[in-house]
Amino acid sequence: MTRDAIRLHRVVRRFGSGDAAVTALHDLSLSFTEGTFTAVMGPSGSGKSTLLQCAAGLDRPTSGAVLLGDTDLTALDETRLTLLRRDRIGFVFQSFNLLPTLTAEQNVALPLRLSGRRPRRGEVRAALARVGLADRVRHRPPEMSGGQQQRVAIARALITRPEVLFGDEPTGALDSATGRDVLRMLRALVDDGGQTIVMVTHDPVAAAYADRVVFLADGRLHGTLDAPSAETVAARMTRMEAPAC
Ligand SMILES: Nc1ncnc2c1ncn2[C@@H]1O[C@H](COP(=O)(O)OP(=O)(O)OP(=O)(O)O)[C@@H](O)[C@H]1O
Ligand SMILES: [Mg+2]
Repeated sequence: MTRDAIRLHRVVRRFGSGDAAVTALHDLSLSFTEGTFTAVMGPSGSGKSTLLQCAAGLDRPTSGAVLLGDTDLTALDETRLTLLRRDRIGFVFQSFNLLPTLTAEQNVALPLRLSGRRPRRGEVRAALARVGLADRVRHRPPEMSGGQQQRVAIARALITRPEVLFGDEPTGALDSATGRDVLRMLRALVDDGGQTIVMVTHDPVAAAYADRVVFLADGRLHGTLDAPSAETVAARMTRMEAPAC
């Protein structure tokens, strides 16, 4: 049986008002199955980041519902939404956002400490081992490569065992070989750990690591592609970006 980890129902996100109003998401309905890896693609400005931010409770839709399991994020007040983000959602960005003066271990432990929990013995090291950094626990971000820093950021996002891990271009700042290592690791988190992952990317090669690609254009769903390959994704993107004539 498959279950949806997260579901967007008729989500609209409008920014500004009057002449300056921009509708970033138009009545978008979409669901992400538990234990699957989805890539979100589309031209610049198509609403990918807005979709991710609304789904992760970092932004609020103008209307519509976002369901994480049985919880409607749009019905929560700020305090509850903050707690939900802390406990049930993981997020990684293109920039790693690590604290440079803390060791890898201290960075990963931070979300637990912020929620008033003392990390269990071995918990943080196990998270770092899962991302292949067992031998780097005492290193600080400036002493690590970009790929290693992103792995620390992923371990930090996973330490609370979130139901969904979101990534907005998580490999965007990495060279292609390093990016591929991170993508293989994300794939393994899904295959071996049943993690649900939703990742925005511009790169067809990165999207090919996913189970499914969701295409957005002008804030609307523009089809999906199961079992994507870099070639099929690239062909679809080329068609989408071609000017209509
Ligand atoms: N805070 C905001 N205020 C006003 N408009 C916004 C805001 N955030 C996003 N937008 C607009 O919403 C639309 C979608 O933006 P979004 O950042 O989601 O696109 P994207 O697909 O992530 O693009 P990119 O690939 O360049 O990152 C754009 O037209 C953008 O200008
Ligand atoms: Mg974006």
